[in-house]
Amino acid sequence: MGYTEDLNFIHFAPTKVIYGAGISKDVAVELNALGCSRALLVTDRDLSANTDLVRKIKGYLGENCVGVYDEALPDSGLHIIDKGAEIGRSLGADSVVSLGGGSAIDTAKGIAILLKEGGSIRNYEGFQMLTRKQTPHIAIPTTCGTGSEVTYVAVVKDWDNHRKLLFGDYNIIPDVAILDPELIRTLPPKLVAATGMDALTHAIEAITSPQRQPLADALGLHAIRLVNKSIVEATKSDNLIPKGILLLASNIAGIAFSNAQVGLAHAIAHTIGARYRIHHGLANSIVLPYVMRFNNEVVSEQQAMIAEALGIRDNLSETELGEKASEKVFELAKMCGLPTRLRDVNVPENELLECAEIALTDGAIVYNGRPVTDPSEILQVLKAAY
Ligand SMILES: [Fe+2]
Repeated sequence: MGYTEDLNFIHFAPTKVIYGAGISKDVAVELNALGCSRALLVTDRDLSANTDLVRKIKGYLGENCVGVYDEALPDSGLHIIDKGAEIGRSLGADSVVSLGGGSAIDTAKGIAILLKEGGSIRNYEGFQMLTRKQTPHIAIPTTCGTGSEVTYVAVVKDWDNHRKLLFGDYNIIPDVAILDPELIRTLPPKLVAATGMDALTHAIEAITSPQRQPLADALGLHAIRLVNKSIVEATKSDNLIPKGILLLASNIAGIAFSNAQVGLAHAIAHTIGARYRIHHGLANSIVLPYVMRFNNEVVSEQQAMIAEALGIRDNLSETELGEKASEKVFELAKMCGLPTRLRDVNVPENELLECAEIALTDGAIVYNGRPVTDPSEILQVLKAAY
């Protein structure tokens, strides 16, 4: 299993998780159970303009909703959080309900901080900057990948400097996560696939992290099994069952990585996502097989376990199983119809070294299974993925 005698860890998973088709209708009950009755509904423009989900959740909240802030965008920015908090304060909001993908939920985490602490979100960048529980937050994901509804991290883009900033704190973990497969019924297939691959990346990077621990491993391995069973059908069919399983996998992987962290694939995805506006899940999906290959010499034992969770039953050495696991990840992305090369998503080849240098400074790099100390190591992965 690879655990050493100095194993020690904290596993913190305080979010109440509620699952079921149609269960989002209970959002007001959950809000009242938190002692709140004046929620700011935080969502993104796309959901607001192109679906009836915002109207639906607003309706379920009824008089418990003081307003809707629908200005979250993919790669939500610092200014978007500051503005949302100002609006929430002016409306007398006592809580936030977030509806959307990772950006909307992370925007709400930022707003939850500012409603309690004041100031600009810029002041809270970093880890464990807060000393008390933040504004109550119910998160309702409409994608099946980020797991943000149960994590302690918000990723926010600094639009001026084209970088993604990390805000990590136990005090910003949402109080309640409502997982309703009905809400991802109309999610476009490409986003089902890309967000599902993000969930797979969370699970794999948690298990191969130097901060891995048995509880996160257990969650990560089951998340991998669920992604493997569901992602292709969830992408290609309208069947709600695989979509619901993928939504659960995303949640379970979220709890795993919130406790064990993510590594090099995320360091690269944060970098190329911010620079070239590549979807976070897609960026992870493209680089993950190559990161796994790069890591294999150090974490083949974990990657052999991952191979088994991916359904690989061959009688091979751990090293060979680790290689097979990376091939299977590549295959899954391909079967879902996702681009599999950095060149396919217009990353300029002559900027790979610069990307490697920036990725080396990303917070996730310290949690990669194989220690990374030099940009040339990342460049090697980027070139392979190109
Ligand atoms: Fe991610």
